[in-house]
Amino acid sequence: YLGLQTKYIGKTIHFYESLPSTQQVAKELALNGATEGTLVISDEQTLGRGRLARAWHSPKGTGIWTSIIIRPKIPIQQAPQLTLLTAVAAVQAIEEQTDIDVSIKWPNDLLINGKKVCGILTELQAEENQIQSIIIGIGINVNQQLTDFPEELHSIATSLSMEVNDKINRAKLVQSLCFHLEKLYETYLTLGFQPIKLLWESYALSIGKQITARTLNGTYSGIALGINEQGVLLLETSDGKIQHIYSADIEIDAL
Ligand code: BTN
Repeated sequence: YLGLQTKYIGKTIHFYESLPSTQQVAKELALNGATEGTLVISDEQTLGRGRLARAWHSPKGTGIWTSIIIRPKIPIQQAPQLTLLTAVAAVQAIEEQTDIDVSIKWPNDLLINGKKVCGILTELQAEENQIQSIIIGIGINVNQQLTDFPEELHSIATSLSMEVNDKINRAKLVQSLCFHLEKLYETYLTLGFQPIKLLWESYALSIGKQITARTLNGTYSGIALGINEQGVLLLETSDGKIQHIYSADIEIDAL
């Protein structure tokens, strides 16, 4: 990729025509000592994976299906911060390349006009409670048309080209993603999570709104106050209590 403006993110690229999942290959590379910033990208995934054991539809030649290895020297509890950081980087890259407004739905879905355009999945490798690597998986729907999506996604998913009515240059978008990711990561390593948290909240859809969070332990409704340092969603329920939401599907309630 000519025009890559980074020091280490995306400096080593493993490109494939087709893979089951870039996540798996990146994990193996990380275990074998791949350097920080190593990027695995595939034109197609036959077994793309999403959060909560869901499938991630990754048809050939249409999207960005990539996994990036980073090796931050941070306490393991802070790892979720990198997922939020990545969501901010992806928003910045997409907005830079398309001029469309993108918002984040907690924890890390990127939406355009209420439909999902990008998902992020981070996985961690640790030894004796020390992070060895974090594999950041990013899927961006770029040049799909509606018919490229399975029927059941038609009302909830979109692509960049469907939103702008134009074909988007995938190479430029990957470069921009690497650029913003590295910039935010450097900010994070020197200044900590606070500046990233503020940016994340500025893009977040649900903050200050009445939402419903469906977790494995039950359903909670309330006002989304924001996130804490760990990226946990803080929900104020009608009895005035603050619920910590660690993992859930959230929905913004109709007015
Ligand atoms: C989600 O929204 O549930 C997360 C989707 C993550 C998809 C990306 S595409 C590249 C990487 N490889 C995978 O199999 N999944 C991630």
